Amino acid sequence: MKHTVVAIFCALALSLGVRAQVFPVIPAPVQVSETEGTPNLTRELSRKIGKSAFARKTAFLPAFAREEAYLLTVTPKGYRIEANTETGCLRALQTLSQVDRCCTVFDYPRFAYRGFMLDISRHFRDKDFILKQMEALASVKINQLHLHLTDDAGWRLRIDRYPKLTTEAAWRIGSSWQEWQNGGCRYSHEGAPEASGGYLTKADVREILLAGERLGITVVPEIEMPGHSREVVFAYPELGCKEGSAELCPGKEATFTFLEGVLDEVMDLFPSEYIHIGGDEASKRDWHTCPDCQARMKAEGLSSVEELQSYLVKRIERYLNAHGRKLLGWDEILEGGLSPNATVMSWRGTEGGIQAMKEGHEAIMTPGDYCYINNAQDAPLYEPLGQGGFLSLDTVYSYDPLADIPEELHPLLLGLQANLWHEYIPRPEHTEYMMYPRVAATAERAWSPVAHADFRERVSAWNENLASKGYKVFDLRKERGEREAYKHGYDHLALGKPVTYAKPWHGKYAAAGAASLTDGLGGGWAYKDDRWQGFLSDVDVTIDLESLQDIHYVGATFMCVPGPGIYLPEKVEVWVSADGKAFTKAGEAFNEMKEPVISYILFGVPLSGRARYIRFFAPRSKEWLFVDEIVVK
Ligand code: ACM
Ligand code: ZN
Repeated sequence: MKHTVVAIFCALALSLGVRAQVFPVIPAPVQVSETEGTPNLTRELSRKIGKSAFARKTAFLPAFAREEAYLLTVTPKGYRIEANTETGCLRALQTLSQVDRCCTVFDYPRFAYRGFMLDISRHFRDKDFILKQMEALASVKINQLHLHLTDDAGWRLRIDRYPKLTTEAAWRIGSSWQEWQNGGCRYSHEGAPEASGGYLTKADVREILLAGERLGITVVPEIEMPGHSREVVFAYPELGCKEGSAELCPGKEATFTFLEGVLDEVMDLFPSEYIHIGGDEASKRDWHTCPDCQARMKAEGLSSVEELQSYLVKRIERYLNAHGRKLLGWDEILEGGLSPNATVMSWRGTEGGIQAMKEGHEAIMTPGDYCYINNAQDAPLYEPLGQGGFLSLDTVYSYDPLADIPEELHPLLLGLQANLWHEYIPRPEHTEYMMYPRVAATAERAWSPVAHADFRERVSAWNENLASKGYKVFDLRKERGEREAYKHGYDHLALGKPVTYAKPWHGKYAAAGAASLTDGLGGGWAYKDDRWQGFLSDVDVTIDLESLQDIHYVGATFMCVPGPGIYLPEKVEVWVSADGKAFTKAGEAFNEMKEPVISYILFGVPLSGRARYIRFFAPRSKEWLFVDEIVVK
């Protein structure tokens, strides 16, 4: 009888358009069936770990998923857990902490690696802060915390054999990134009154690792090499090609002695099978002229500096493998030849990861366009100062790492990671604001087999719950979303009309090429969205309306994002012509903004006249100009 009543109510609710309440768990489990009654969420009725019945039930899964699989049953009497391992049991408890009703949940992860990277070099975050974030990360079953421990801006891990890494290279003059950069990137030393920075002691790390064990999070240390190592060369100048180098010198044996010594202590401390060695963005500039580097290249038969980097990575890989560890690196480690067992973290798009998998290597996806949560999550002009990008919660969630990968490579894709680079994130509260709720989107895409339409509803509740516990989250209720021009576009006289360029657009920001400025598509908040056209020159273009037209307005929006060097033009000039030869100046509009701040400024020129050709000229003030459309009315 009761069942019938529930069924009738459900049918009625559906017919009235009332939706059942969403099942409030992130990441969404694989299988949920809801049952009746008031749940008893505190009384454990049974916990069966490693029993053959559950092993049979999960036999169809790959090994990594079997390990974390669980069956959770919540009833009015209490809850029961079945799992193959303690980790599986932990995942069940993490689900239980979000459940609010009676249910049976059968669940397992889509990927083995579900990561979050925290850059604690650019702005240091201490042990307590990291412990706090681990609680939130574990609640959505993130199981890898990648700590970017070393970079130019500060070395953040005590190494006993090389004490100057933390007595000197962990301290700088200028607490914020900008202050440090503007002051010429100077270092200081521990205890100095002007010193800013810090580092994790080994006791700190042990505490973090203990929490990781409790929460099911592996802590993956990253020791960056050979680039992003200015701080190392500051503390130990003999490891650079020359003083002040930003890179380690792979020509000198001392460099390998140093790296192996550091890695010995890192491996003693961190049980993680993967050791991240960075490998990204090494300019290799000094290697071309360094006698040690040149001698090394000659001795090893290396024909390029890329091969010299590859030599270093391969040597380090042998060292890690000999100690039972695996090398993980950014996708630049593909250049000059990938070392035999390396795993690639693909950040410059997905191509590097795909190439690595084609060569039989494992890969982790963390493409900038979907995973770099240091980009603003809402309209950048209302957000704290950042790098100029825009990455909404919805965009993070939209990323399916398997979508563009051939099926035969799927088993090599270990997983997915969100990265939080810290250059523009000076305060701890700001770190949390960037993390939440976006890490939950990555977490769900890494765990759940498919995307779910109710993610937003669930994540809002999860986010508010974090806020109630003292996390400084981004308030989704205040989200503005994309630029109106991006959503709606422009309608005007020059739509689809041909444009000739007296000066070319820049190849890196071509948007739709010659069609960009009259295609009706508005740019979004981010200059890299393929709608903004970028110029490292003046903008000087001529639109052909293809017939004489009455014109009363020409205007265009320019973007200003000082971080990456995008500024407004000094002014714009509009010239008109009937024949495309003799032009008369019809009007101009001046930049009325004094201080460059993130902004999207319309330069509109009212005029009255009849013309077929419109020349639009915007002299650049410095560096880049970005414009999305020239609107003619
Ligand atoms: C990176 O963002 N340089 C890995
Ligand atoms: Zn050198």
